[in-house]
Amino acid sequence: MKGVILAGGLGTRLSPLTRVTNKHLLPVYDKPMVYYPIECLVNAGIEEIMIVTGGNDAGDFLRLLGNGHEFGLQDLHYTYQEGEGGIADALRLAEHFAEGDKIVVVLGDNIIEKNIRKPVGQFFTQGPGAKILLKEVPDPERFGVAEIDNDRLVGIEEKPKDPKSNLAVTGIYMYDRQVFDIVRTLKPSGRGELEITDVNNAYIEQGSMTYAILDGWWTDAGTFESLHRAWQLVAQGGANRLDVADGGLLGAQESS
Ligand code: G1P
Repeated sequence: MKGVILAGGLGTRLSPLTRVTNKHLLPVYDKPMVYYPIECLVNAGIEEIMIVTGGNDAGDFLRLLGNGHEFGLQDLHYTYQEGEGGIADALRLAEHFAEGDKIVVVLGDNIIEKNIRKPVGQFFTQGPGAKILLKEVPDPERFGVAEIDNDRLVGIEEKPKDPKSNLAVTGIYMYDRQVFDIVRTLKPSGRGELEITDVNNAYIEQGSMTYAILDGWWTDAGTFESLHRAWQLVAQGGANRLDVADGGLLGAQESS
């Protein structure tokens, strides 16, 4: 399985911090934000990763991350999103990289405490379809929100005023090769973007979407409030870390 990190966008909710740099290069305690989703994938055993970025600062990702040796990777792949077409539009750019394999997609501003090895393993063996990770939150109206009926996922609403549950859809998505065909059928939403929630609802309608509840804390970091919370959670020592000095990739894999 391959990993894709979506790290484009204008980051306007963090302006003026994002006026001269990409949101995912901003610090979260002792590391740039994009380190956390990379570590999330590496800790899940994924060794082939593509970063989708955009805007004026794309070259800074290469300067910062190079070939990913710091994470125990052989190399890192990069691609460039022209314009601001949304999360699903950015994902489209990973089609050649995926080469028909299943992929794990992580939004570049999502940070987790533990690791996702178990749900990734389940997805690997589940057959065709997709899998998402949900997490209970106090403010579901900020996210995609799952509607669950007798343990069955029946739909997702994007930033609903009146959420049907307190289960947010985290920015960690697992897809089979069909995802690129689904993206091609999407129409832009009210905010002019191709929405990842529309992709997920297409899988739900097909009956091929599974879900799991994410273990440990989860936060995004795309607003001042959530960036502050992310910083605090990481500083308290909880984040999913890759300690190369302690055995690198293998050490991290053995430690859960
Ligand atoms: C995006 C998705 C949303 C998801 C969230 C997770 O929201 O559209 O469904 O819950 O990421 O971080 P955005 O950060 O673009 O507002």
